[in-house]
Amino acid sequence: MEIFKYSASISKEISSLKNHGISFGFVPTMGALHEGHASLIRKSKSENNFTVVSIFVNPTQFNNPGDLEKYPRTEKEDLKLIEDLGVDFVFMPEISEIYPEKDLRIFDFDGLDSVMEGQFRPGHFNGVAQVVSKLFKIIQPDKAYFGKKDFQQLAVIRMMNQKYFGNKNIKIVACDIVREADGLAMSSRNVRLSPEHRKSAVNISQTLFKYQKNNKNYTVNQLKNLVTKEIDADKNLKTEYFEIVDNTTLKPVEQIIPGKTTGCIAVFAGDVRLIDNVSFS
Ligand code: PAF
Repeated sequence: MEIFKYSASISKEISSLKNHGISFGFVPTMGALHEGHASLIRKSKSENNFTVVSIFVNPTQFNNPGDLEKYPRTEKEDLKLIEDLGVDFVFMPEISEIYPEKDLRIFDFDGLDSVMEGQFRPGHFNGVAQVVSKLFKIIQPDKAYFGKKDFQQLAVIRMMNQKYFGNKNIKIVACDIVREADGLAMSSRNVRLSPEHRKSAVNISQTLFKYQKNNKNYTVNQLKNLVTKEIDADKNLKTEYFEIVDNTTLKPVEQIIPGKTTGCIAVFAGDVRLIDNVSFS
């Protein structure tokens, strides 16, 4: 496994291998890796000759400086995990390498970025697009892997690839949510949950699963109220939003269309903000 700190050196190495017909899969991460990331890496390895993982905690996607500060950093464990998984290249740049100067680009995602996460974390997706667009240019992968847990991020990345990269060279691959045995969606933030909040956090996915299964018995408004009420009945949890949206436009729907509608949620478990989603069929 080779570790690169500089864009020019990893770009040069990848270009030369691509000239020899080697295909590249790319898994962008912010570190604090878990089984969800491992599943993206395994998928990339199964579909490409070489796999590149980036580890970079991107400051421009944090609208809250406290959140950036508290973001878990586990470099030694991360490198061991990706080495064990057989990753070929790791890109671990310093902030100054990615942002030698302030990135002033403003992306336009036709409103996809202003609902749900975008409403509560203004500027978040612009920051994600800033870093992912830079990483795409540096790595020039054939395929890039993203988890469906970040449902809205996936929609934004797909649009970025289409609008700003012409959907030409990079295929975006969406990978299923990986869950703990009790159903909690895996997240780098889970390690910050106290034992009590970890116990409560299971109610998020369990409530979503319950109404995913029974959705035909309720209207969209009823579903929204019931999910929020049941989760918030746990004193350790507070729902920030629960929206039922169209898979493509991310606009709230009035009626569930099987296979085309997703319920997306953000919940505070103490001071840890968790997101999850379920698709309705
Ligand atoms: O999903 C993440 O971990 C981040 O948003 C990403 C895509 C690595 C960009 O910093």
